[in-house]
Amino acid sequence: MYVCSCRGVTDRAVKAAVASGARTVEEIARECRAGSRCGGCWPVLAELLEQTSSDASSRHSEASAAA
Ligand code: FES
Repeated sequence: MYVCSCRGVTDRAVKAAVASGARTVEEIARECRAGSRCGGCWPVLAELLEQTSSDASSRHSEASAAA
């Protein structure tokens, strides 16, 4: 699904940017260009950022608990 129509960037590309270390909307824009034009997709990027980073941290804490 496209989240940034200006740059034609999908939610998968945004999640990949977060997985590779992007922690702000600006960093996502730098990684995959989503949000680097009109900014209309920023709320969606922020939501994906929150979802993807909380998924990653809950996986991390599960891994820590299992260790
Ligand atoms: S819709 Fe993403 S920058 Fe315009």
